[in-house]
Amino acid sequence: MSFNPFDAEVMACPYPHMAQARREAPVAWSAEAGAFVVTSHHHVMEVLRRPLVFSSRFGRAGRPVPAGWREQLDAVIAEGYPRSEVLLTTDPPAHTRYRRLVARSFTPAAVARFEPAVRAIVTELIDGWAESLASTGRVEFMAQFANPVPVRAVANALNVPDRDMKKFKEWSDLTASAIGTDISLDGLLRSERAINEFQRYFEAELDRRRTEPQDDLLTHILTATIEEDDPEVTDRRPLDMAEMLRILQMILVAGNETTAALLGDLMRLLGEQPDEWARLQREPERIPVVIEEALRHASPNGAIWRVAATDTELGGVAIPAGSRVIITYMSANRDEAVFGPDAEEFRPDREHVNEHIAFGFGNHYCLGAPLSRMETRVALEELTRRVQSFRLSDDNDGAYAPSYFLRVPTRVTIEPVMA
Ligand code: HEM
Repeated sequence: MSFNPFDAEVMACPYPHMAQARREAPVAWSAEAGAFVVTSHHHVMEVLRRPLVFSSRFGRAGRPVPAGWREQLDAVIAEGYPRSEVLLTTDPPAHTRYRRLVARSFTPAAVARFEPAVRAIVTELIDGWAESLASTGRVEFMAQFANPVPVRAVANALNVPDRDMKKFKEWSDLTASAIGTDISLDGLLRSERAINEFQRYFEAELDRRRTEPQDDLLTHILTATIEEDDPEVTDRRPLDMAEMLRILQMILVAGNETTAALLGDLMRLLGEQPDEWARLQREPERIPVVIEEALRHASPNGAIWRVAATDTELGGVAIPAGSRVIITYMSANRDEAVFGPDAEEFRPDREHVNEHIAFGFGNHYCLGAPLSRMETRVALEELTRRVQSFRLSDDNDGAYAPSYFLRVPTRVTIEPVMA
């Protein structure tokens, strides 16, 4: 039994396909996808525990690009800085060096200083609902809350002024649009052009900090040094422009749609369980555990690539060197073997919720997990304070953007009663 993760019907609702795969073939070759698809918690963990065998050097985040597209694509890429491999798409020891460089800017203590700014963003967005509430009694939660919160929070962390926010959001959307979906050549070219624009903007910002250093992540990246790849060389070197820009791009892309998806799914899940909303209002200390269960249940980063570095074996299946492998976080997080027979349900009081791997596991564990958890906690604290109760509008269709990798609800319309 195998399924094609890029099939439109699978992308629309992957859960039944994954459940069957977990039962019958948790490591399966999908000829249509040209990849092994891994669905059980056990086998996903086994991949993550062997990062040198299951390499992260998968290059482009999308599907392999058809040979005929290469020339046009390379021409657009040549207009910008090279797309250096950093962080997500590197293996140790290079990965360890990049990771060390940025890790200290994203610890829980480091992101705590963004909390007042995030609270202000959240409050302003809720205040902004007044007009649509007065005219329709409704709020489209993705557009009016979930999408702007992380974009503005990351822009705040990167010190981007408010006036550039629209451009920033556009780059984020276009850059992320190429990830794990069946994108057209046109879409891919648009995405690469957006990356070039993003690069030009941040190159200028980085240059500005050479003469006017600030206490921000950009200045930190600019002044940081990294060990040379060559173990014989003991000198450290600054990052080159291509590496700096790629790290910034990764932070932008990785943080926005994922956190927006988490916020949207949380609202949908809580809309389906109104008692839970009332309980959160009485017991706000439950907010973190509700967030963890939503991460488990909705897993915004549904899946990601690996590439077999050597001939290997997984769950009795031979995997030849060079094979592409898709590890499915959203399926591992619904695995009955770990989470019990009610794994498909949203139940914040469940045992073992902390065994979810929605932020990954091992050396590539999500750099932004503390930031994302803080944003979501602050959002829920303010929402439960300001929204007395709400219902989901009848016309919600429960649709997600067509991707197996990034699970973002397209629309979550709510009808709130404000406190
Ligand atoms: C709910 C929100 C988020 C989810 C579900 C999520 C999920 C993940 C997952 C599953 C990985 C591991 C990928 C792999 O195994 O290859 C990852 C890595 C990463 N995430 Fe997140 N993420 C979220 C938010 C963020 C935010 C806000 C940032 C911004 C700082 C961020 C930055 C990164 C980076 C840079 C990596 C690569 C880390 C590395 O390779 O060492 N993420 N994320």
